[in-house]
Amino acid sequence: MLQARSGLKCGHRRQLDAECRLRNGAAFRDKLLTELQEYEPSLTSTMSRIAWIGLGSIGEAMCQNLARYGPMQEPVIVWNRTISKAERLAETSDKLVAARSLADAVAAADIVCICLIDDAAVDSTIDMAKAQTSVSGKVFVDMSTVHPDTNQAQSEKLAKVDAAYLACPIFGGVAMAIERQTTMVLAGSSEAITKFEPFTAGVQLADQPLQHASLLKLVGNYFRFASIEVLCETSVLSEKIGLPKETLAQFVKTVLPGPTVGQLALLHSGAYSDLTTNLPPISMAVKENKYLNELALTNGVKLRTLDTVTAHTKRVNEVKGPDAKLLSIHGSIREENGLPFDV
Ligand SMILES: NC(=O)c1ccc[n+]([C@@H]2O[C@H](COP(=O)([O-])OP(=O)(O)OC[C@H]3O[C@@H](n4cnc5c(N)ncnc54)[C@H](OP(=O)(O)O)[C@@H]3O)[C@@H](O)[C@H]2O)c1
Repeated sequence: MLQARSGLKCGHRRQLDAECRLRNGAAFRDKLLTELQEYEPSLTSTMSRIAWIGLGSIGEAMCQNLARYGPMQEPVIVWNRTISKAERLAETSDKLVAARSLADAVAAADIVCICLIDDAAVDSTIDMAKAQTSVSGKVFVDMSTVHPDTNQAQSEKLAKVDAAYLACPIFGGVAMAIERQTTMVLAGSSEAITKFEPFTAGVQLADQPLQHASLLKLVGNYFRFASIEVLCETSVLSEKIGLPKETLAQFVKTVLPGPTVGQLALLHSGAYSDLTTNLPPISMAVKENKYLNELALTNGVKLRTLDTVTAHTKRVNEVKGPDAKLLSIHGSIREENGLPFDV
């Protein structure tokens, strides 16, 4: 995702980039852009400048894809709280440039993409941007997974200073982001969505309540967590009754193709305990389960599978720490059933 849409603009841009790579020169690229501007002004004159704030595991992957495939005229401006991450990333491509401060990044951009750990980080970063520079006329696109009320609060806060806010939660993990296979759900005003549209493709909830994007993210996550819980339990059950791993793997491949196949392979190989993989951490599941539980409670909905998922994520978090992977609930279920945590 965050891929350039097909069409004239992107075709010209790709051709231009390819020619520039061949001839190896920024000056040549600028000359071509000037010619293109004269030939067809609409192709280049209205392209927004983008800043990217937050270069964690998924933020970095998505930002790199935006820089590589997006139809931008100028490099993406990157900023991260730990500034060395932005500097290191900018060194990898001439389509990325590191800003010295958050204010510099925001001031130079029309669109500010944010991908941060949690609600508090989003809230304080937007406050800091607002306090340090003018944000009037800018569009903030928030890809962090946050509570629906946080979306609304940021939107209202930014509207007071004439800036727009799009909620834009992401479905899919880091591996999918690297492959440009995540799905983004954009919610906000149609005017702001139109500004961001050239840089993305995804589900659009234009002019619908902003919270719908994050509510959908929570509902989707519930489905995902519940599927992982059942997969882990199935794996444990199969082991206890002596069903060979290969037999279960073959069944899953036939009946449940898609991410489940890879997840089962990670359970069988023991990689669910490996902290060096880019699998989602348990801390992320703890945050999202908390929101799901609040949502269920507030709306008087009993979700028994969520109770089970919550118990397992809590246990993994306590015993293995926040960096343990979500799939480590497999270990927790194994222990409950008299097996060692690791395979
Ligand atoms: N990873 C996934 O599979 C996945 C999938 C879908 C959605 N998401 C969502 O995407 C968001 C980012 O996830 P991630 O995997 O990239 O997380 P991550 O690797 O833990 O990175 C977190 C990012 O937030 C920044 N940050 C943390 N606290 C901050 C603060 N107080 N002020 C400013 N910046 C702060 C970090 O900066 P430093 O580098 O300075 O620490 C880093 O850039 C989260 O909301 C997550 O729920 C993740």
